[in-house]
Amino acid sequence: MIDVNYKRMYKELNEKNEEFEKILMALKGSQELSTKDIISMDDLSVDDIKLIFRITYPFKEEFIKRPNKKIPLLKGKFQMDFFFEESTRTRTSFELAGKHLSADVINASGSSTSMAKKGETLMDTVRTYNSMAMDIITMRHGCSGAAQMIANEIRCPIVNAGDGCHEHPTQGLLDMYTIYEAKGKIEGLDIVIVGDILHSRVAGSLIRGLRKMGARVRLAGPPTFIPYGIDKVFGVKVYDNLDEAIKDVDVVYALRVQLERAASGFIPSVREYSKNFCITPSRLKMAKPDAIVMHPGPINREVDLRTEVMECAQSKVEEQVTNGFCVRLALLYLLVRGDPGKVHRKDASLMEIIRCGNLKDKRKVSEAKTRGGRR
Ligand code: CP
Repeated sequence: MIDVNYKRMYKELNEKNEEFEKILMALKGSQELSTKDIISMDDLSVDDIKLIFRITYPFKEEFIKRPNKKIPLLKGKFQMDFFFEESTRTRTSFELAGKHLSADVINASGSSTSMAKKGETLMDTVRTYNSMAMDIITMRHGCSGAAQMIANEIRCPIVNAGDGCHEHPTQGLLDMYTIYEAKGKIEGLDIVIVGDILHSRVAGSLIRGLRKMGARVRLAGPPTFIPYGIDKVFGVKVYDNLDEAIKDVDVVYALRVQLERAASGFIPSVREYSKNFCITPSRLKMAKPDAIVMHPGPINREVDLRTEVMECAQSKVEEQVTNGFCVRLALLYLLVRGDPGKVHRKDASLMEIIRCGNLKDKRKVSEAKTRGGRR
């Protein structure tokens, strides 16, 4: 996944005591992310995901181990974290990542804005922030599609930090990075995702990402938690019996039962769910002996996972949090310092030239190219 040449390149540059920014530039080369907005895992190509992992690697290997983690990569840039729902991991890691890269980070929540009591719409609120020349906006919202709606209107990069029951792409990236780190690959692995697939934006991104990277995915849960037809849409296998689903897998990924999203109405009781789908030490023994256990957090102990499993040597739950921080450092660097979406803008300008039907008109061609190259 991360080509061994890049690991070697990183090692050599690091041994030469090369500046961290030069190491990042060497690892990035001339590649840019193909999209300026990360709303869904579908926005990212396999090459985009590999680029993100390549840049995550030095942040994890070296940067976060430094006693002084401040680096001026995003000095003079403005980052807005706009969270309408509670968050511990995502919000803190985005804020910390922006601050470590020296961006000025502004936090807003639904209740702290004029939306709360003055009737301003979400779109007008975000347009207002955009008028203050933000360089990147991260947003969590309870409604599926909210991040896409603002991305359609706003020129700076938008990162979906979780929208309703739809997607949480940076969670999917950190999960895949954790799997890659533990197993050295993603392609060909057998991975079971257990629980409330229907309400889970984490599952929405992870299933798309894992299938894109060539893993075999099994979904296990009560039938009411599994969207109808998902097996055909994503090429996954569906099980209503966890003991069958977990057999010989490389990765056991437990989801949180989302009681706040009315998930309790889909199961007879939390106790019955836990009896059939909680990851217990005896169930974990049915997976491969070196299987890893993951959970996006926050965890419902004894419902999603037994505490012994959460704290066992196979558990990667804490590693996921560290990797979330490192993946978000890499993403901020690539989105704000890089020129994401350049390829598509070039295509767009070419289309415009073709539509003009006037390739000989040098002025029009030059204007279209300028529009295509502008952020
Ligand atoms: N996994 C996750 O999104 O956690 P938070 O809700 O704490 O951000």
